[in-house]
Amino acid sequence: MLTIAVSKGRIYEEALPLLADVGIVPTEDPKKSRKLILRTSRDDVRLVIIRATDVPTYVEYGAADLGIAGKDVLLEYGAEGLYEPLDLGISRCRLMMAGPKGVKPKHGRIRVATKYVKTARHFFASQGVQAEIIKLYGSMELAPLVGLADCIIDLVDTGNTLKANGLEPRELIMSISSRLIVNKAAMKMKHEAIHGLIQRLESHVSAQA
Ligand code: ATP
Ligand code: PRP
Repeated sequence: MLTIAVSKGRIYEEALPLLADVGIVPTEDPKKSRKLILRTSRDDVRLVIIRATDVPTYVEYGAADLGIAGKDVLLEYGAEGLYEPLDLGISRCRLMMAGPKGVKPKHGRIRVATKYVKTARHFFASQGVQAEIIKLYGSMELAPLVGLADCIIDLVDTGNTLKANGLEPRELIMSISSRLIVNKAAMKMKHEAIHGLIQRLESHVSAQA
């Protein structure tokens, strides 16, 4: 049995066609079902439906053999305990520093709101900027508007959320897409099945590129 961890929502929706291309079709829709383990058209493959930030944890500990996770989540989690063999090219966006439009970036110590605390620390340290990082769990764009932070680090796709809140992108930290991740022990123990799946996914991804 191969267990694949996927988050509900954007990544699930975008991963579905890719998985279908390699013959993996869930028998239920997670939008309609409250089940967290979904059987698929393949008896030897099941999906577990979890929060996006929990995907690397399930895979590192072997509760799932494989997972699909955003590079933003993997950067923050730390990749040492996992293999990341394939960029699936889905859920593309950019991790950016952004701040109020037309306001010059402050000198000296700045306050930054983000859910990417480690990544933010690393980014500002590499720039030699002193930053106080404030951990938030969502709606980062609000923080500069109400004086909680000078700027934010968050994902940007169309830029509509920044624009709607009077913010502008300032620096690109990284281009983001979702990656296939694999448990290290499973890669050895279930090598044939996992390697076969990676190869099939890889050829579908490169055919679409
Ligand atoms: P949760 O709802 O569990 O707190 P989340 O809100 O981060 O997690 P999603 O919004 O579904 O969950 O995002 C999952 C992943 O999709 C992110 O980690 C990122 O890689 C990618 N992503 C997030 N926002 C966008 C976006 N606007 N455009 C494209 N990809 C995005
Ligand atoms: C993500 C991200 C930004 C927004 C960017 O939020 O946190 O707020 O998308 O996309 P845009 O540039 O196209 O406007 P999401 O839609 O996932 O909402 P949530 O994380 O706050 O639930």
